[in-house]
Amino acid sequence: MKFVNSYKEKIKKYNEKHHLTYHIDTMGCSMNENDSNKYAGILESMGFEREDDEKKANLILFNTCCIRENAEKTLFGRIGALKRQKLKNKDVYIAVVGCMTQQKHIIEKIKESYRFVDIVLGTSCMSLFPEKVYESIIQNNSKIEYIDVSNNLEEEVPIKYEDQYRASVSIIYGCNNFCSYCIVPYVRGRERSREKEAILADIKKLAKAGYKEITLLGQNVNSYGNDLKEKYTFPMLLKDIEAIDGIEIIKFISPHPKDFKEDLIEVIKSSKKIARQIHLPLQSGSTKILKEMNRKYTKDEFLEIVKKLKEADESISISTDIIVGFPGETEEDFMETLDVVKKVQFNQIYMFIYSKRNGTKAASMQDDTLPQEKVKRLQRLKKFHEEQISNNNRKMIGQVYQVLVEGKSKTNETLYTGRTSQNKIVIFEASDKEIGKIKNIKIESDHLWYLKGKIE
Ligand code: SAH
Ligand code: SF4
Ligand code: F3S
Repeated sequence: MKFVNSYKEKIKKYNEKHHLTYHIDTMGCSMNENDSNKYAGILESMGFEREDDEKKANLILFNTCCIRENAEKTLFGRIGALKRQKLKNKDVYIAVVGCMTQQKHIIEKIKESYRFVDIVLGTSCMSLFPEKVYESIIQNNSKIEYIDVSNNLEEEVPIKYEDQYRASVSIIYGCNNFCSYCIVPYVRGRERSREKEAILADIKKLAKAGYKEITLLGQNVNSYGNDLKEKYTFPMLLKDIEAIDGIEIIKFISPHPKDFKEDLIEVIKSSKKIARQIHLPLQSGSTKILKEMNRKYTKDEFLEIVKKLKEADESISISTDIIVGFPGETEEDFMETLDVVKKVQFNQIYMFIYSKRNGTKAASMQDDTLPQEKVKRLQRLKKFHEEQISNNNRKMIGQVYQVLVEGKSKTNETLYTGRTSQNKIVIFEASDKEIGKIKNIKIESDHLWYLKGKIE
C-alpha cells in the first residue's frame, strides 16, 4: 500500500502560521527507531519542526516498545508527568504509537486513566497518522480507538534520518517465529517482505544522497523473500545491494540462526561490503532451553554456523542476544550458555533477564528460579564477557583497521569517532573534513568499550 497523505497541505498551511514543533521519544529496537524516522519524516513534510527539548515541544510522540514487562510502568510514568504541561498549554499534544499500543489492554488503560492523550496508533499505521494529527490539532476532536492494521505494508513513507552517512532500511516486517518468550509476533503481525524494487530504489536514493552505510532491518532478515511471488532471497538481495555504487558498508539485524544457510555464508564470504561483524542471537546455550524457547536450533548447530563464518573470514566477529533466567533454566543450562560465550568470543552481548509477557507460551511455564538468582546469573555473564573483551582488545593494539569517520566524539571535543568493520568503537584525532571518509587507523591503546588510535 502506498502512503498517501491527503492532509499534508492543510496541516502545512496551519503550520506556516503556528510553527508547531515535535519531539519523538524512541523506546524500542532498531525497527522502532526506523519507524520514528518515518514519523519524523511525515511530521516535517507537514511543516512541523524538530524540538530536542520535550518540555518545549508541541507534539510529543512516544514510540513504544513492549518487549519487557516494566516498559508499561515507564511509559505511563512519562505520560503522567506531561499532564500538567498539557493542561497549562493548549498547544501541547501527546501521541502514543508503536508496539505497546498494538495491545488492546493498553488502549483501555489510556482511555480510562490518561484521557488527555491525543493520538494513539499501533504498528504499521503510518497512513492513519496525518488524519489523527489533523483531527486532534486542527479539528480539536481526537478519538482514542483500537485499530488493528498490524499486517499492513506501507511504501513510500517520507523518512528523516538523523545521520548523514548511515541509514537503516526495513526489508521485512513482522515475525512468524513465535519464540515462546516473545511478544513481537503478536504486535508486529506476520512476515511481510518488501518488493525488491522498492528496497533497491530506496538504497540507490540513499547512495545518491551520500549515504555510505546501510543497515537492513527485520525481526528475521534471513527469512526475507519467503512470502514473495518471485524467488528472491536474502542472499540475492545482499548481492544486488553490493552492486550499488556509493554504498560501502552493509549491515543487517537480525538474522535467525535457524535460517542461516550456506548461500548466506557464501555471499558474506565473497562480499567486500558486508561488515565483518554479524549479529547472531543465541538466547541460550542450552539445547533443552532452546527447545523450550522454540528457537529451532541446537547449541551445536549454533556453534557450527559460527565455525563456518570464521572459516569464511576469520576477521568476522559476532555479537549476540542472551536471555538468562528463562523458566526452567538450571545452573547446568546457564553453564552451557557460558560455554558458548567462551567458545564464540562474542564482541558484544545484549543481555536480558527473562521477562514474562502475558499471552506468550512461556508465560504459562513453571518458573522456579528466584529473581535474585537470575540477577546473579546476569552479573556472572557480564563479568565473564567483560574479561574476554579486555583480552581481545589488547590483541588489537598495533593493528590497522578501516574506520568510517562518523563525527566528533560526544565525550571529548577534540577527538573523532568511528567503528571498525567488527563494530569496535575507535576514537582518534581528526578534523571535520574527514567526516564521512573511510580511514586507516592504527590502534594504540585499549579500554573496555572503545579503542584509541591514530590515522595512518
Ligand atoms: N527478532 C530479533 C530480536 C527481537 S527482540 C531476534 O530474534 O533476534 C530483541 C531481544 O530481546 C531478543 O533477541 C531477546 O534476547 C530479547 N527478548 C525478547 N523477548 C524477551 C523477554 N520476554 N524477556 C527478555 N528478553 C526478551
Ligand atoms: Fe521474537 Fe523470535 Fe521473532 Fe525475534 S524471531 S522477534 S525473538 S519471535
Ligand atoms: Fe520492542 Fe516492538 Fe522492537 S516490542 S523490541 S519495539 S519490535
